Amino acid sequence: MRRKFIAGNWKMNLDRASAIALAQQLAERSSHIEGVDLAVFPPSLYVDAVAQALAGSRVAWGVQNVYHQPNGAFTGEISVAMVKDLGCRYAILGHSERRHILGETDEMVNKKVHAVLDGGLTPIVCVGETIDERESGRTMEVIERQVNGSLAGLDAAQIRRTVIAYEPVWAIGTGKNATPAQAEEVHLALRKILADRYNSEIAQSVCIQYGGSVKASNARELLSQPDIDGALVGGASLKADEFLGIVAGALA
Ligand code: PGA
Repeated sequence: MRRKFIAGNWKMNLDRASAIALAQQLAERSSHIEGVDLAVFPPSLYVDAVAQALAGSRVAWGVQNVYHQPNGAFTGEISVAMVKDLGCRYAILGHSERRHILGETDEMVNKKVHAVLDGGLTPIVCVGETIDERESGRTMEVIERQVNGSLAGLDAAQIRRTVIAYEPVWAIGTGKNATPAQAEEVHLALRKILADRYNSEIAQSVCIQYGGSVKASNARELLSQPDIDGALVGGASLKADEFLGIVAGALA
């Protein structure tokens, strides 16, 4: 039985004080929650402050991106070692906003995945099709290309430590989530890709989150699908009530 994992991607939102306040609320209000893993991803400038607010709580933290090189002349980037230094357990990699707005390729994402795994952290690797790709019947082809490219060269032990997030681009920040059936279909296809590349036991063990307009009101239905193991939540993770409502949906 895979454990559910609910992650809040705060993206480029909040200021320092409100990030700390949100983290404090989540720390307090999640203390009794069992049976589900929780993490938040603040803007990297606020990770240190948020980490202090979350220390000793049920909520882990991570970053929204890293660079694959260990150190050096890479202006504006942050390394896996720096992220570990702040107690991060996770790094989101290849989010669609980074792929589509900032030009990240599968090859770049793959280097980051290796760096994060080598550093002992858990990568959350995002894949997902655009609306054009879906409407032209290319969803599975796109997903397979992204999985094979972004997760190239991972051995069995490494893929077991990797989280995959299926995030259809058309569902992110639009209020229009994939239906549970649409999401489940892709999650099942992801397990088939993993079973072909590794084996079915490994395919069954990998945590696959869904992301894209998840909120308290649709979480239960999405998270009750057999192959949906959690949620990567954007907008709804910025309010404690909504985020904890999603967590309640995971436990229902
Ligand atoms: P959303 O974002 O929940 O606001 O749609 C999801 C994500 O980008 O991870």
